[in-house]
Amino acid sequence: MENKEVGIGFGTWAWGNKLVWGYEPETDDILLKKTFFNAIDGGLDLVDTADSYGTGRLFGQSEKLIGNFLEELPKRKIKKITVATKLAPFPWRIGRHGLHKAFEESNKRLKGNIKRVQLHWSTYRYAPWQEEQLINGLGDLYQQGLIKEIGLSNTGPKRLAFLYQQLKKRGIKIHSIQMQFSLLTKPSLEDETIKNICKKNNIEYLAYSPLALGLLTIPTDKLPKPLTFLRQKLFQRILPKTKELRKLLNDIGKKYSASQAQVALNWVRSHGAKPIVGIRNPFQANDAIAALKWSLTKNEKERLDFCRSECLINMPQNPFISP
Ligand SMILES: NC(=O)c1ccc[n+]([C@@H]2O[C@H](COP(=O)([O-])OP(=O)(O)OC[C@H]3O[C@@H](n4cnc5c(N)ncnc54)[C@H](OP(=O)(O)O)[C@@H]3O)[C@@H](O)[C@H]2O)c1
Repeated sequence: MENKEVGIGFGTWAWGNKLVWGYEPETDDILLKKTFFNAIDGGLDLVDTADSYGTGRLFGQSEKLIGNFLEELPKRKIKKITVATKLAPFPWRIGRHGLHKAFEESNKRLKGNIKRVQLHWSTYRYAPWQEEQLINGLGDLYQQGLIKEIGLSNTGPKRLAFLYQQLKKRGIKIHSIQMQFSLLTKPSLEDETIKNICKKNNIEYLAYSPLALGLLTIPTDKLPKPLTFLRQKLFQRILPKTKELRKLLNDIGKKYSASQAQVALNWVRSHGAKPIVGIRNPFQANDAIAALKWSLTKNEKERLDFCRSECLINMPQNPFISP
């Protein structure tokens, strides 16, 4: 299994998020700056953010930080990466222009560097009529030359095919779809169908939470206590039932002198999906970069596939995923 064509991107949900990750501006911002530059210098070529990353008064904090860091990056380096944000289709963002103000604000925070805008989730389950309008609104931004690429997120196969056709009629392409995909997501026919649609139409499949929020990186003899209540609950519930999987990650990693995180990222890549890994410190950036240098064998991939299919627990799914 060669992963050469599939890169690795990084995600910044944690940057600004107190509730899930315990972010503290006073201590974290310096570390995040170094993390960001390590990641870019080491070849992680997509940075993923969202206008909703940052909780409470920190709304938009992830975009703000990235915008500030990008100001210190030479233009030639910015050109080589994809700066991708996601706009949230909140119920009050309605109609074809519903996301335009949000786009302007994100673009301000990101200092005019947005390349790709992604619809953060499908509105199909609460306002099905909205989605077509919002995606056409993103199509307008594209036709005005304000963005170069459009992406989707948390969209099921039927809606993906539908929205793809809507934009195709206008000669516009959907560039990527972002779905939760890791050794701890439940294997499903829907996911296989999405991957097939992607392959057929040259849509990039981005795997979010590829380390299952960090669970897959934990050695079987450790029982860490994450900082926040929400992650503590998740870890308590999921860790005990994932021992075999984590042991296998560890065993395979030994052969490559690689961490469990690297093995988990390369398993994602072996499925043709580009992981966007959540990184919070320079070590984690460097570890993801090291994964770019090697690939799993066919046999290792299959052993992990099997262990995944036997696993008794899965990550919770995003509730907005459409059919
Ligand atoms: N479209 C969507 O709805 C959606 C939803 C979720 C996420 N995303 C995107 O996907 C990105 C990644 O997902 P995620 O942040 O949810 O989860 P993730 O990538 O599965 O896990 C991130 C966590 O794993 C740990 N980690 C990372 N590298 C490590 C390493 N080398 N060794 C040990 N631990 C390591 C860190 O935990 P510690 O913090 O404990 O160090 C980190 O915070 C997000 O940042 C976001 O951009 C999108």
